[in-house]
Amino acid sequence: MANRAVIDMWGNSRTPERHRKNRKRHTMTAPRRPLIAGNWKMNGLQEDGLTLASAVGEFMKSQGAAGFEMLVCPPFTLIGAVGQAITGSGVKLGAQDCHPAAKGAHTGDISAAMLADAGCSHVLVGHSERRTDHGESDDLVNAKAVAAHNSGLSAVICIGETEAERDGGKTLDVVKSQIAGSVPGSATPANTVLAYEPVWAIGTGRTPTVQEVQEVHAFIRAELAAKLGRDAADGIRLLYGGSMNPGNARELLALADVDGGLIGGASLKPDDFAAIALSC
Ligand code: PGA
Repeated sequence: MANRAVIDMWGNSRTPERHRKNRKRHTMTAPRRPLIAGNWKMNGLQEDGLTLASAVGEFMKSQGAAGFEMLVCPPFTLIGAVGQAITGSGVKLGAQDCHPAAKGAHTGDISAAMLADAGCSHVLVGHSERRTDHGESDDLVNAKAVAAHNSGLSAVICIGETEAERDGGKTLDVVKSQIAGSVPGSATPANTVLAYEPVWAIGTGRTPTVQEVQEVHAFIRAELAAKLGRDAADGIRLLYGGSMNPGNARELLALADVDGGLIGGASLKPDDFAAIALSC
């Protein structure tokens, strides 16, 4: 069975080995399984959200024992319906934000416990659009990640520099201080994923070079090792995000310290999202 060719729903043939070859290995713990995560942002009404979720679920089911994981993060209003649509497919369900408190007088907010109760396994915290639109600080992002951990969710902690910071040669300084501030001491490979998303690459069609991405990811892993220990750093998955698409996914996902992608625009197109997953 190991060599069984699989025909996906788009008619492409592949073998399970193709997915295994790029799996990142390290010495002490299990290999890091690539995670292909879709961030739908503020997109999707019931009908198109369900169509998209069903397509992703069918694709995942068509893969059999895939060498990658898939995650979809719809807006809050679609979490229940999307959760039903992907039931049994293996696709994981996430939200795009949570409040740091477990419950209480926070009108309009959603707690991590509510997300877990609604079937989520993951939640994005500190996405640059929240840092910008809502003035979220590293301290707040850290508190949200802790809240996620306390509710049994995996936190996908987002970091990344602005264009001005990159032009000023400050990328590694910014990333270092975001890790120091946003990543809690409770972070482990089981409850935390980091997403490096250069702000200037989000939704722009521009990406850093693969050398630049690998340099930043290797730096992030070294910073995590200093903060959390080598084993934790070796096990935590590091996603690249920012204009990942079927045309650039393969070379980005092949990088030694890139363990998946956080995908915005292309995750709204099921064929593109599937093609990115098949690039692992
Ligand atoms: P993009 O968004 O893929 O549309 O650039 C990525 C993100 O913001 O998570």
